[in-house]
Amino acid sequence: MFLAWRRHQALKHIPAVGIPPGWGPLGPYLAARRFISDSPGLLIEGYEKYSPTQQTFKIATPTRWVLVATSPAIIRELGTCNEALLSQQATANERNSMSYILGPSIHGNPYHMKIILRKLTPHTGAIIPDLVEEATWVLNTHPEAKQLVDEEWRGVKLQGLITGCISAMTNRVLVGQDLARDEEFLGSLADLSMVISRAGVAIDLAPDVAIVKDILAAILVPKGRGPFKVFLDKLTPVFEKRRKEYGQDKERYDDLIQWVLDAAPEEASMYELCTRILYLNFSAIHTSTVSVMQSLYDLASRPEAQDQIRDEIQMALSEGEGWTKESIASMWKLDSSIRESQRLTPVTTATMMRLAQETYTLVDGTVLQKGQWIITPAWAANRFTTAFDNPHEFDPFRFEKMRSQPGQELKHQLALPEEGYYSFGGPGKHACPGRYYAATEIKVLVGYIISNFRFRISHDSITDPEKQKNNFLSFSCLPNFNDGLEFQRRETTCST
Ligand code: HEM
Repeated sequence: MFLAWRRHQALKHIPAVGIPPGWGPLGPYLAARRFISDSPGLLIEGYEKYSPTQQTFKIATPTRWVLVATSPAIIRELGTCNEALLSQQATANERNSMSYILGPSIHGNPYHMKIILRKLTPHTGAIIPDLVEEATWVLNTHPEAKQLVDEEWRGVKLQGLITGCISAMTNRVLVGQDLARDEEFLGSLADLSMVISRAGVAIDLAPDVAIVKDILAAILVPKGRGPFKVFLDKLTPVFEKRRKEYGQDKERYDDLIQWVLDAAPEEASMYELCTRILYLNFSAIHTSTVSVMQSLYDLASRPEAQDQIRDEIQMALSEGEGWTKESIASMWKLDSSIRESQRLTPVTTATMMRLAQETYTLVDGTVLQKGQWIITPAWAANRFTTAFDNPHEFDPFRFEKMRSQPGQELKHQLALPEEGYYSFGGPGKHACPGRYYAATEIKVLVGYIISNFRFRISHDSITDPEKQKNNFLSFSCLPNFNDGLEFQRRETTCST
């Protein structure tokens, strides 16, 4: 209570955005209500007003006041800060209520970060054939894809199809092909992802009393029945089998199950091992699915861009040996168009969220009290940047053109944060650890779809594409065009 009061007092001189005039003490509550469905509106309003003077502003959310940085120097600081002082893990934990839902070890001992950075990322080139195989399988067997048999245009429920592809591709890497094609297992993950995200919001909004939050977590995410039980029942035997073999032949496996076993504390329970995989699924699937959907939607009204990307893919595949690390790296147009969608419609409207672990003074002298949140307004900073020309415009080949300038060839890529592109976080050690893997997976899937299909906006369902496109819930941006796209299978596929 005292800490919350002290935090509130310390913020008095920082300007607030979104408080309707004339409502007195009710103003912050109304602003917090608006935040639930309009975080981009608030971030843009504040950014337009305060970024010219690089001033930090604050917004009210139902649970806390959040500071929003506009100064490039502070944003750089958030990308490189000391985790013990301004914590990424603590913010992720509060935001998703993970310690109540899955247990305190996820963010208390985040060994999965090292696994992603030191094992998964260097391994990504080697698993491209597996990713292509899973994408091919889902795009030939999923009911939404199976209806696309001839050259007829047909409406496609995109969310189910893309979630199916990303789940199979990701789980092929996380748990192997058997479970990646097990409908019950994938179904349990899809259900859990929804249940856990909703529970996270509800628990975060509940009174700040541990027992209340624990009880809510037990009610909202029951472990002994439903999808959680299916998930544990399917995955536990995989870990048990591997643990038995572990002593005999440690070097035999080089996959994620093994990396988790190697990195987890020796006494880790089966529940602990399985929930680590669940957390990785949780981090990977929703973000990548949404990114693929945004990219397809943006390209749907640009058939000429689809054709240009397809020509590029055709050339890369025929010059190389099919889908490989090298051929994918040469697909600049594909990379650029996905990055441009990611820039204009990031998965979360704010990134680089940090929670002060003790009193902390930012580079401009602003003092954060312990427990204070500070964020980067990615939605606004990406759209109002001075780093690129016409930043409001969707220009699919913007970054391909930039990379064509001498000395820029390796810059401006999908997985590389920079000023004006904060969708994976900012430059520095705290950027999303999964971004290289995610970029490869997304490029394989979008590239494979462009190689095999044409797609367009369905004119029956969309009247104002910009308005229909997104829903916002707190900081999340959720695409809203389940029935909005039509697909047609191409006569020929790209070949090597
Ligand atoms: C398009 C896909 C993705 C997007 C847009 C995305 C975005 C982000 C962002 C903005 C952050 C916070 C960075 C910061 O604090 O500065 C983050 C953190 C993180 N990401 Fe990603 N990510 C994606 C895919 C993935 C994948 C595939 C994985 C796992 C393989 C992953 C695992 C994580 C983890 C473990 C963190 C650390 C914080 C936490 O636990 O929430 N992400 N990601």
